[in-house]
Amino acid sequence: MGRGFYISKTVAVTCLVATAGVLATIIGLTVLYAQERSKNAELLPTTAGPSTTSAASTAPSGPKEPWDYYRLPETLSPVLYNITLWPRLTPNADDLYIFTGHSRVVFRCVIETDLILIHANQLNLTKFDGFYAKLNSLYGEAAPTLKKTWLEVPTQYLVVQLNDPLQPGRFYELYTEFVGELSDDFGGFYRMEYFEDNVKKIVASTQMQPTDARKAFPCFDEPAMKAIFHVTLIHPQGTVALSNAINYDPVNITMNGESFIQTSFEPTEIMSTYLLAFIVCDFAYIGTNPDAAVLIRIWARRKAIEEGQGNYALEKTGLILAFFENYYNTSYPLKKSDQIALPAFGAGGMENWGLIIYGETALLYNPGVSSNGEKEWVATVISHELAHMWFGNLVTMRWWNDLWLNEGFATYVSYLGADYAEPDWNVKDLIVLNEIVSVMSVDATAYSHPISSKEEEILSPDQINEVFDSITYSKGAAVLRMLSDFITETVFSKGLHTYLEEFAYNTTGNKDLWKHLQMAVDKAGIALPHSVEVIMNRWILQMGFPVVTINTQTGKITQEHFLLDPESVVDTPSQFNYEWFVPVTWIKTGGSEQQYWLLNKEATNAELVLGGSDWLVANVNMTGFYRVNYDETNWERLIAKLISNHQEIPVINRAQIIDDAFNLAKAKIVETTLALRMTTFLNKEVEYMPWETAKRNLNYFFLMFDRSELYGPMQAYIKKQVTPLFHYFQNLTVNWTKMPAKHTDQYNQINAISMACSSGVESCRELTSGWFKEWMNNPAVNNINANLKSTVYCNAIAAGGKAEWDFAWEMHRNTTIASEAEKLMLALSCTKEPWLLNRYLQYCLDPEKIRKQDVSYTFIYIARNPIGQPLAWDFIRANWDYIINEYGRGSISLASIINGLTERFSTEYEYKQLEQFKEEVQAKLGSADVTFDPMLERTKANINWVALNKKPLSDWLISQTSGI
Ligand SMILES: *[C@@H]1O[C@H](CO)[C@@H](O)[C@H](O)[C@H]1NC(C)=O
Ligand SMILES: *[C@@H]1O[C@H](CO)[C@@H](O)[C@H](O)[C@H]1NC(C)=O
Ligand SMILES: *[C@@H]1O[C@H](CO)[C@@H](O)[C@H](O)[C@H]1NC(C)=O
Ligand SMILES: *[C@@H]1O[C@H](CO)[C@@H](O)[C@H](O)[C@H]1NC(C)=O
Ligand SMILES: [Zn+2]
Repeated sequence: MGRGFYISKTVAVTCLVATAGVLATIIGLTVLYAQERSKNAELLPTTAGPSTTSAASTAPSGPKEPWDYYRLPETLSPVLYNITLWPRLTPNADDLYIFTGHSRVVFRCVIETDLILIHANQLNLTKFDGFYAKLNSLYGEAAPTLKKTWLEVPTQYLVVQLNDPLQPGRFYELYTEFVGELSDDFGGFYRMEYFEDNVKKIVASTQMQPTDARKAFPCFDEPAMKAIFHVTLIHPQGTVALSNAINYDPVNITMNGESFIQTSFEPTEIMSTYLLAFIVCDFAYIGTNPDAAVLIRIWARRKAIEEGQGNYALEKTGLILAFFENYYNTSYPLKKSDQIALPAFGAGGMENWGLIIYGETALLYNPGVSSNGEKEWVATVISHELAHMWFGNLVTMRWWNDLWLNEGFATYVSYLGADYAEPDWNVKDLIVLNEIVSVMSVDATAYSHPISSKEEEILSPDQINEVFDSITYSKGAAVLRMLSDFITETVFSKGLHTYLEEFAYNTTGNKDLWKHLQMAVDKAGIALPHSVEVIMNRWILQMGFPVVTINTQTGKITQEHFLLDPESVVDTPSQFNYEWFVPVTWIKTGGSEQQYWLLNKEATNAELVLGGSDWLVANVNMTGFYRVNYDETNWERLIAKLISNHQEIPVINRAQIIDDAFNLAKAKIVETTLALRMTTFLNKEVEYMPWETAKRNLNYFFLMFDRSELYGPMQAYIKKQVTPLFHYFQNLTVNWTKMPAKHTDQYNQINAISMACSSGVESCRELTSGWFKEWMNNPAVNNINANLKSTVYCNAIAAGGKAEWDFAWEMHRNTTIASEAEKLMLALSCTKEPWLLNRYLQYCLDPEKIRKQDVSYTFIYIARNPIGQPLAWDFIRANWDYIINEYGRGSISLASIINGLTERFSTEYEYKQLEQFKEEVQAKLGSADVTFDPMLERTKANINWVALNKKPLSDWLISQTSGI
């Protein structure tokens, strides 16, 4: 699945918010996904419900039957499927949307067996002579007769017992007919409803990954069970059918007296079931010349295509495909590349081979309406999904425990592909903010987990779903980036080439990748202290990462497992004792980059000793997945250098120094005031990455203190730091009349405005309120620049009253553009009027006003506002029963709401309230539907942090701002 897919929409929106810098009344209203995650790793909603381990798999006694195991036996191997599906886009007499179908699977017997196990889930199978299937032998021999067939629900099998065994080496064919529900549950073959011009429309689409192909037709539903698929779809006149391969000419057929279209597709390449896709819709497309070597088409709602919203994707897809063909040195394996944008799909994409499915915000770009952050999202998600066409689809992980091979890899190279498509963006640097530092917070907890698990630990569909997390995607990307850096990008891509060549149409594990990278390393004569595999095992087979401490007076260098909470206890042992082979890089005053392998817990290296007034900064461009601490002298010299001439330190490292210092402070390794001192140079800084890092880290300070007497001094300090930045952008944009040319400047302009407005910089408020007024005076013309919309809306609503709020609400109701609706929804939570916030909370319970799927985020947005937070907390508790009953567990995420509401909790009183609420909820639900414990833990940690830091912070802030 694509970037953004595994995270809930809140988080996806937050990611966008983080990149687009959508900020509100306080600095960084943004909930830092990373922080949220670090405190609540087990709490984030996954697609699956609570673990439903089958009774059989935990049964203490008795021999297990083959159908009690989640994994298929190795007796049979599929060769080809011939599937016909007919989705009904109107409900039947029972008001049910269904699909019917039949399927023939040809398989080879590998090991003699009298049992056929094939996955089937939630399908009603037709009986023939009392059996759910028909069995034939190919090449004219007689097939064994059926003895008994049934559906084994817990492990999702169709079980076929035979009277005689199947013979190894022979081919057989199993035929089934079935009816399934075309439900709106987003799994298998499902339907999606949306409105266009007030008309309800239905799309039939698929989401097979990871284990839902078995909901569409009986199949050997494991990634290593690759086969060829012949697909036929029957669909209404006026619709088009799409699948992985190119279609033959559609024909008209009559079914039950009604005329339908039947579309068959060319056979697919040999591929995994989870990459299949079928779609029936009435969309339009734009495409390349049909005679091109690879046909590229972008599909979307007719209107979106007419408005040119697919043009950007079409323009960039060709470039990105060309980049990957060159990078992998392997041609694109298919004849066509369809990419389709579905309304209401969420934030990401799914890399079905030849038919990639996206949410509209991940594929469509609307010039003038979309911001540059949204544009970057489109470029990187497309790049991620296209990277999978080789890595993941052509060569696939053998089992889900190695999902990181697919996802970490695609996440890493998506930045390379996007960089090729948009060379002016510096997008390769942004991986540090988007993936690396955010996943470090997750991985710095005692309950993180290794990137790669053992195969036998990941068995049930629920366990498989849980693997789709930020460790798999972002840490996977981070360690591959580190590897690619120490063996060089050229050698890395040479290794990939031979790997793809050897394993095309096949499956692999980690070792196979390490083997090919090692071959490339040996060929290039690169010296490593250990083999690629031995080095990388430290990073993928144990959780966490080290903090490397460098003493520049003695040259001593040490490593230690970095944990954000110094009191946390790691009770999972590691075969490597939480030690890593660390590629330490550094630069010194005026010097070039140097490298040293830290192979033990501690070592001494004379190169690290500093003379005179030199400074040293380690982990150049943050290519290594570790944090760095120094002796006090070097910290002081870094501060001095940042203040006197920050540009001598590379921009990524300026961000890294800030982020390391704040995280080390959180872990109580350095003083919190040291971290704050890393921000004193910002009054001369104009680059995005250091500012963004500071903003995200300071967000926590605001959460803890924005209701306390520290708020004033904090505001004064931020105002002092951000004022020069605000004026810098005022000049750069010729008094706000032009857009900055540089992509990252566009981001930082948003930071400048939002931080200046929220800290009370004169003229900022007039600026944003003025722009908003102009729009209010002429609602048909919105001249606010797309990048700045979020921050302008939010600040204008915060500064305004009922008129501004009501206007924004009207605009929210009238807009047909999803991203615009989202920005307004967020901005509406920025008001400082308690009654408007309360009214907004009320709206959340009225589906006519706020769609069910938006309710969770609205609550969370309101709670981010310091005035809204107590109101939302009271409101949720008062209406809890109603919310549970009306919204149930499907459409809103109670865990993420509670998480959002309690983010600021940092007093004993709040702790008690939360405890009490937990008890009430548990009494009612009988069990803890929402895991409260991580939130209680976080509150405790906040209480301790505030007690420890309030006084020193207050003293420091006042010393910085006295006299202004
Ligand atoms: C697939 O099945 C259809 C009938 O449903 C048949 O016409 C077609 O020839 C079959 N294709 C293959 C490759 O077996
Ligand atoms: C499958 O069969 C069950 C039991 O007869 C029935 O309730 C259900 O509606 C059927 N599903 C479909 C999609 O027809
Ligand atoms: C199929 O039927 C539709 C309308 O019923 C007609 O417009 C179309 O030309 C027919 N296509 C073929 C290939 O016969
Ligand atoms: C897949 O790879 C394995 C080695 O891991 C090899 O034995 C097998 O022959 C390959 N299969 C195909 C179809 O290439
Ligand atoms: Zn992916």
